[in-house]
Amino acid sequence: MALLPILRYPDPRLHTVAKPVAEVDARIQRLVDDMLETMAQADGVGLAATQVDVHLRLIVIDTSEGRDPPRVLINPEITARSAEMQTSDEGCLSVPTIYDQVQRHARVSVRAQDRDGQWQNFDAEGLAAVCVQHEMDHLLGKVFVEYLSPLKRERIKTKMLKKTRDESPRAGRR
Ligand code: NI
Repeated sequence: MALLPILRYPDPRLHTVAKPVAEVDARIQRLVDDMLETMAQADGVGLAATQVDVHLRLIVIDTSEGRDPPRVLINPEITARSAEMQTSDEGCLSVPTIYDQVQRHARVSVRAQDRDGQWQNFDAEGLAAVCVQHEMDHLLGKVFVEYLSPLKRERIKTKMLKKTRDESPRAGRR
């Protein structure tokens, strides 16, 4: 397994729309394993393939704090959404240190293929529901900061560009 570099907002590649996974083969399973390792190492609750610059419909989520194995969702589709909404603080591995309130459906029903390519159905609520909707947005090229006001988004963009510059090993050597 290998750790994969995570794209950071406002990298334009984060706005790529992912394509369906045609076949769950060894290459896809390897990507899944690398994404699981990358998510765990970054202490994240979810990761979309988009964030590691692979533009395929594949996400991993782990909202159980170690009680259950992480979920692998290949070609995920939301089949039902609750009318009830919930607002919660969201963060993103592609927008480190930024958290803000986003409104989502409180419950969603999801259909997706697992790591073996088998179709599974499940219902998610609470953090898992937030996470599924957040990660599926990534597959459409959407980052959660796009729900915030243009002013907040501009501030976040500036902060992220500065952070990336400050962390660069070349910083100060120009
Ligand atoms: Ni995210």
